[in-house]
Amino acid sequence: MKICTIIGARPQFIKAAVVSRAIADHNQTEPLPESINEIIVHTGQHYDSNMSDVFFEELSIPRPNHHLGIGGGSHGQNTGRMIEAIESVLSSERPDWVVVYGDTDSTLAGAIAAVKLHLPIAHVEAGLRSFNRRMPEEINRVLTDHASSLLFTPTITATHNLKREGIIGDSVKEVGDVMYDASLFYGEVAVEKSAIMHALKIQPRQYILATIHRAENTDDQEKMGQILEGFAMSEQEIVWPIHPRTRKRIYDFELSIPKNVKAIEPVGYLDMVVLEKSAKQIVTDSGGIQKEAYFFRVPCVTIRDETEWVETLAHNANVLIAAISKDVATQLRNPNVPTVSNHEVFGDGRAGVKIVNALQLVSNIT
Ligand code: UD1
Ligand code: UDP
Repeated sequence: MKICTIIGARPQFIKAAVVSRAIADHNQTEPLPESINEIIVHTGQHYDSNMSDVFFEELSIPRPNHHLGIGGGSHGQNTGRMIEAIESVLSSERPDWVVVYGDTDSTLAGAIAAVKLHLPIAHVEAGLRSFNRRMPEEINRVLTDHASSLLFTPTITATHNLKREGIIGDSVKEVGDVMYDASLFYGEVAVEKSAIMHALKIQPRQYILATIHRAENTDDQEKMGQILEGFAMSEQEIVWPIHPRTRKRIYDFELSIPKNVKAIEPVGYLDMVVLEKSAKQIVTDSGGIQKEAYFFRVPCVTIRDETEWVETLAHNANVLIAAISKDVATQLRNPNVPTVSNHEVFGDGRAGVKIVNALQLVSNIT
């Protein structure tokens, strides 16, 4: 069986690593099953080495068979150019499945190229909804779900969201969250391998970890300014691996990074996991990092109006706030304390294995 995996952005490398590992395990089981040939297509959406290469190296993801080199443009430019290039790859590879991840422009481009070639799509992390149609990711998710033949949902909430849109039956498989699998598997490895705490000269529970990259925050000068002001007013030590998009906006808006912030370049996943596990609190607008805070039982503040990951809001383990400097400062001075962390809502840590089994089973039936 041949699978084409379409990826391009940071969180997709981490999600795909889990499935690639499950494929490698599958190909080595005894007695030898029908082997799965995974062809990896990297769109190029993220291209800096600390946004891309580092994940392939650290997480042992096979090198991409096709690198399309498309990134840095607007949504329309990126998506359009990706569709054209992916169509060409899929036309020659003719896979049994096209596997797409999450909700980026690379996800949508992969789905559109595949569905027009009548190739079946499997969507990993299907059914997520923020119900905010101004988010580019929300449009990407909805369209990808409606083009997919197999929809792997991470949670019961995601399964219900699909049901509400009329997507039901055997095509929906609630397998759990591949990012939960990743946190369990690499969580241990990270603690052994990462030297980030030493390199940054920081102590566990003595700092707050920040990440900000959502367009709704970074592209609004007032909001970006308020977040920076809130960080300064908190007077807490903040470690902030800055996404390239955010760094550019801070520069364009002529804003400055407060003195209590240790601004660093984006880090690899292993370093990130250690920074998350050891933080006294996390402040973010990332989808994946809200969940990792929850997995590692670290209090989280999310600077967004809504979240797709509503499970993390239980017992105030994750708190949503607006980009208002005094609110940001207050939250960072008084971390909420998560009392309960109900990990089972994200599965049993075997989502990758279940995905590989389902791909094979359905392909044998059809
Ligand atoms: C994208 C995803 C978002 C995801 C995020 C993960 C879409 C619509 N958005 O947002 O869902 O949460 O990735 O990080 O697909 N840049 C660089 N170097 C890089 C990558 C990006 O300089 O390696 C800069 C470029 O100026 C680029 C900008 O960041 O134009 C935005 O990159 P893009 O991939 O379009 O969107 P993200 O904000 O990264
Ligand atoms: N991440 C990382 N290094 C960083 C920032 C994030 O490895 O400097 C990881 C993080 O641990 C999580 C994923 O990237 O697994 C989340 O990606 P991001 O926040 O870019 O996107 P989102 O999840 O919001 O789509």
